Amino acid sequence: MKILVTGKNGQLGRSIQNLISNYDHHEFILVGRDELDLSSSESISKYFDAHSHFDVIINCAAYTAVDSAEDEVDVADQVNHLAVKQLAEFANSQNAKLIHISTDYVFDGKNESLYLESDNPNPINVYGKTKLLGEKAAQETMPNNLIILRTSWVYSEFGNNFVKTMMKLGYEKNEINVVSDQLGSPTYASDLAKAILHIILNDNLNKKSFPTEIFHFSNMGETSWSDFAKEIFKLSNLNCKVTPINTNQYPTTAVRPKNTTLSKEKITKQFRVQIPLWKQSLKECLNEIM
Ligand SMILES: NC(=O)c1ccc[n+]([C@@H]2O[C@H](COP(=O)([O-])OP(=O)(O)OC[C@H]3O[C@@H](n4cnc5c(N)ncnc54)[C@H](OP(=O)(O)O)[C@@H]3O)[C@@H](O)[C@H]2O)c1
Repeated sequence: MKILVTGKNGQLGRSIQNLISNYDHHEFILVGRDELDLSSSESISKYFDAHSHFDVIINCAAYTAVDSAEDEVDVADQVNHLAVKQLAEFANSQNAKLIHISTDYVFDGKNESLYLESDNPNPINVYGKTKLLGEKAAQETMPNNLIILRTSWVYSEFGNNFVKTMMKLGYEKNEINVVSDQLGSPTYASDLAKAILHIILNDNLNKKSFPTEIFHFSNMGETSWSDFAKEIFKLSNLNCKVTPINTNQYPTTAVRPKNTTLSKEKITKQFRVQIPLWKQSLKECLNEIM
């Protein structure tokens, strides 16, 4: 199979890159912003004029700066919505499958229970709104052969993320305040990368046509940002006290949903993916970092 991966320098892109040596009978082409700039429709057309015959496209690239998106609405919309539509149009024209990554932030976070794929999205910030528009445009363009994977709270040994920020603060400070009233499930990017490759390769995705569907993926279990921070410090032997605070004591440019814990029942049943508990995966990531 010839598989195109966008966003090669991001957390998920690099996690996929880490795994592909196990699949050397497939051709992986990983591209970053230099080769394929999703903020420019001309760049996208130019790339696909020169490169074709992909069996699968995995779209890991996104405008992910949740707070900056409030001020950069046009760029966020172009990258998270219009570019996704263009990728879907290209995939359709080539009979390629598209795996598109989306977010728990398409939900307003008011659910008391786990979010199912069938629950109504209602994003409350620009990032979530543009990601939902991207999902919808891709679904309209591709009634078949598209998988949308919504994930949440992604961290890894690569780039900047909550785990690395906490470790840095844990070395510098004796005490920090962390929000305790936002709940969700952390996702180790490596686990998501493994699940994506499992779905594409073990299920022989290129051989069949399938109806477009949404799936949720994050690690198992639920936590708050403050308990997540406590576990990071515990596992890294950092002596930093975490004081839980409320969201209103930590104002941010973009509002965040309160509870976006995703149900993983659908993906585990349909693709038989094994999803580790978040604490287990956190330990694995910290070993990689250290
Ligand atoms: N991070 C999270 O907590 C989180 C939570 C829920 C869902 N997600 C979703 O999961 C997916 C992967 O996220 P991630 O954590 O791997 O994000 P990430 O580390 O921020 O990586 C995003 C990648 O997208 C690339 N990108 C941004 N603008 C681009 C453009 N105009 N053209 C081409 N590439 C561009 C970035 O390129 P540069 O390296 O050049 O900047 C970066 O490599 C995304 O769809 C995201 O929306 C993430």
